[in-house]
Amino acid sequence: MISFLRRTLQTESRSLEAADAMACARLHKDGFAFPWDVSEIERLILSENVIGDGIFDSVGGTLLGFVLSRKAANEAEILTIAVAAAHRRRGVARDLLIKHAETLGLLRVSALFLEVAQDNEAALALYRRHGFTEVGRRPGYYRAADGGRTDALVMTKQLL
Ligand SMILES: CC(C)(COP(=O)(O)OP(=O)(O)OC[C@H]1O[C@@H](n2cnc3c(N)ncnc32)[C@H](O)[C@@H]1OP(=O)(O)O)[C@@H](O)C(=O)NCCC(=O)NCCS
Repeated sequence: MISFLRRTLQTESRSLEAADAMACARLHKDGFAFPWDVSEIERLILSENVIGDGIFDSVGGTLLGFVLSRKAANEAEILTIAVAAAHRRRGVARDLLIKHAETLGLLRVSALFLEVAQDNEAALALYRRHGFTEVGRRPGYYRAADGGRTDALVMTKQLL
């Protein structure tokens, strides 16, 4: 059943617009213990140095996943990436990373960085599978929902 659904998911990708902020906030709430609100996401989408891509269901136009990165010179850092809980493990994040790398490549971004909680197995597997390598660790960087702290791993991938 899962592989059938995977085959039939028809998607399209495009740059994020301010009008997508509400849908992004809903997905962010699905994925993070401390979600960003609509105005924060809208502010990021409208920032000159922030690049956002989304993957949408081609039939209903629903946002399935999005990614936001901040660009500085020829480097960029992923600020967040989230996929709707109901559509995970269907290649949405994979397609998002491919689309985002194309977008950033056109802007002459040669290296992409990110931080990921060391216990976020899904995200770590995703990034490793897509060519990111670990280059550092920030002890206690993330606050967990239970009040504890979790290390962040810093990862990077060359795009150009
Ligand atoms: C991490 C996240 C974005 C992955 O999105 P997704 O659309 O489900 O990922 P994909 O289906 O594209 O998976 C691509 C590959 O990543 C790996 N992967 C993704 N989710 C995984 C999981 N739960 N367990 C193990 N590996 C996983 C697999 O290698 C997978 O390939 P496969 O399905 O062929 O085995 C999604 O789980 C999410 O939104 N999580 C909450 C927010 C979050 O943690 N964001 C990252 C912050 S750094």
